[in-house]
Amino acid sequence: DRPLRAVAGERAVDVGAAVDADRLRTDVSYRALVRDEFTVVTAENALKMGPLRPAPSTYDFADADAIVNFARAHEMPVRGHTLVWHNQTPTWFQSWDYTDDQLRRFLREHVQTVVGRYRRSVGTWDVVNEAVDDDGSMRETVWYDAMGEEYLDRAFEWAAEVNPDADRYYNDYGADAVNEKSDAVYDLLGRLLDRGVPVDGVGLQLHALGDWPDPDSIAENVRRFQDLGLDVQITEMDVAFPAGEVPHDAAERQADYYREVVETCLDTGVETLVTWGVRDGDTWLRAFRDFPERFSGDPLLFDDRGQRKPAYDAVRDVL
Ligand code: XIL
Repeated sequence: DRPLRAVAGERAVDVGAAVDADRLRTDVSYRALVRDEFTVVTAENALKMGPLRPAPSTYDFADADAIVNFARAHEMPVRGHTLVWHNQTPTWFQSWDYTDDQLRRFLREHVQTVVGRYRRSVGTWDVVNEAVDDDGSMRETVWYDAMGEEYLDRAFEWAAEVNPDADRYYNDYGADAVNEKSDAVYDLLGRLLDRGVPVDGVGLQLHALGDWPDPDSIAENVRRFQDLGLDVQITEMDVAFPAGEVPHDAAERQADYYREVVETCLDTGVETLVTWGVRDGDTWLRAFRDFPERFSGDPLLFDDRGQRKPAYDAVRDVL
């Protein structure tokens, strides 16, 4: 049984996982799984502002470097996640009494330093993450508050100045299928493109938690973004059941959904699919404060022991 990585390579598609620096350092079987099974990695946390900026004028690149060096050693491209987000900002930042202008300068310096450091090792950036709220309005974040919608324009431009060759993505959740939120993301990206902002693609996170976006509607959504001239990737896929509604054939149903999504990718020309973690035991869902009340905790392609699940077979078989 050939590994996913080999099959994906032949189909010229990328199948990846979000990875954690500590697990890569300390867990040999985790490291081997990532290396043998996937073709691309995302840093699950290491490239976010909080982890990177322990104090106002210092950077801690150790975890990000560990991931990037691992990826280079195994010839895996890296998705850089993420330069601008409202969550996981540094603790000191949350009590910083800045002026709007200071905030803008801080963000510029951050974006340019991080993109610059990884110019040769990160080929794709989630430049902005989750700028749109669930109801389709612009999310009220510190960035929006200080700079208005223009914070997206500047972030993409600053990133492009330092590394024109990288692909720059807007990334969001809940905008996978055609719905109110993806309508708003579509409109936002249309405005950015009209203003000449250097955005190349849209990342659809595809956290299928409880309700699973309809694959046909995902296809329709992907096509409209492509019609804007954007590439589309699936960036954070995981598939969970609502707690208390886990069917007896959960593993097979989950596999069916993974299969349908991969088929949708292949049909629509989505060439990158990243799962949000490696083994079920690594999933962020288990750290949720309301786990296990909300979702089942086994959303990935490998079980806790690192064994291939039906979902794994489904993905590989359909590639
Ligand atoms: C999550 C990580 O998986 C957790 O380890 C962390 O505690 C919180 O962030 N959308 C995103 C990701 O864009 O960055 C989030 O990652 C999951 C939701």
